[in-house]
Amino acid sequence: MPSLPRFLSFPARRRGAASAGPGALGAGSPAGPAAQPGGSRGGTQGEPGAEAVRGAVVLITGAARGMGLLYARKAVEAGAGRVLLWDVDAAALGEAVAELEPLGPAELHPLALDLSDREPLLAAAADALAAFGTVNVLINNAGIVRGKRFWEHDPAADIEATLRVNTLAPMWLTRALLPAMLDDRSREARILNIASAAGTLANPNMSVYAASKWAMLGWSESLRLELEKDGHRHVSVTTFCPSYVSTGMFEGARGPLMTPILTPEAAASAAWDGMLRRTPVVMRPWTVKLGAALRAALPTRAWDVVGGKVFHVYSSMDKFTGRAGK
Ligand SMILES: NC(=O)c1ccc[n+]([C@@H]2O[C@H](COP(=O)([O-])OP(=O)(O)OC[C@H]3O[C@@H](n4cnc5c(N)ncnc54)[C@H](O)[C@@H]3O)[C@@H](O)[C@H]2O)c1
Repeated sequence: MPSLPRFLSFPARRRGAASAGPGALGAGSPAGPAAQPGGSRGGTQGEPGAEAVRGAVVLITGAARGMGLLYARKAVEAGAGRVLLWDVDAAALGEAVAELEPLGPAELHPLALDLSDREPLLAAAADALAAFGTVNVLINNAGIVRGKRFWEHDPAADIEATLRVNTLAPMWLTRALLPAMLDDRSREARILNIASAAGTLANPNMSVYAASKWAMLGWSESLRLELEKDGHRHVSVTTFCPSYVSTGMFEGARGPLMTPILTPEAAASAAWDGMLRRTPVVMRPWTVKLGAALRAALPTRAWDVVGGKVFHVYSSMDKFTGRAGK
């Protein structure tokens, strides 16, 4: 993890507009001056649910690269009013902003923030609420992986870090932002939680990562049910469970049988479209659902043979190197 100030914010960046600091907007005006529709060249404007993003305040974690950056692109192209980009990698955030700026008139609010620290995260969430009143679209995307045997994990740097970034941070952030989302019935809100196929099946060399994503899936689905049960139908939750995606995070991993490694574009589009359509759970490719169904239907030892020797799930991480060979 690069060494940088934990809590480094940048001024808002918007083409043709002066920078808008948090004080520039009153609470309760989430759309604000940047929320004018028009000027967007995105392909998603006519899609079902596109109005949830048009003029919205969108917050994406892990937005500096990979699928997070693709969600940011989609938000800007779909006419979002403000896009909050949170990531631990300050340098990559700067590059992301440069890439996003020409795509549309959205105000961009990058923030270099280590999500594994609860207090700075909650302070940043409070700042966002003070500045914008609410967040209309929250994408809990940031994630890390350690690809090794469980007994090789360091208790703090591997186990605790993975659970903090992948599991606790989405819960802390959603807990902080949800009350304002519930209060604001003037428009639909969306929460997109990025879990993984690893949240549906056990797999050697990703025990802690799998644990973090199983927890994400169980929490995210329970939250969806609670919101539906209590009549908060303007806030919908989508959980995304992709198999391997070629962002570099899982470099060296091999796709199981009939499970090609997804392009980041295909994966992010599936999650984004599911979020717009209020789909509860999106699994890609289709074999993720098949694997989960077989795992549930078969006795464990039988699934071990099918998943391990037929689908080759259990050897998919054998040659994992991860990004930069780490
Ligand atoms: N790539 C895959 O094969 C795959 C498969 C299934 C699920 N996923 C999930 O999709 C999400 C995105 O994955 P990706 O492949 O785009 O990853 P990526 O590594 O390309 O991007 C992750 C981003 O999160 C940021 N991040 C990491 N730790 C952070 C922290 N402590 N605080 C703030 N930001 C932090 C990184 O700097 C990076 O910009 C993750 O949740 C991942 O677990 C990925």
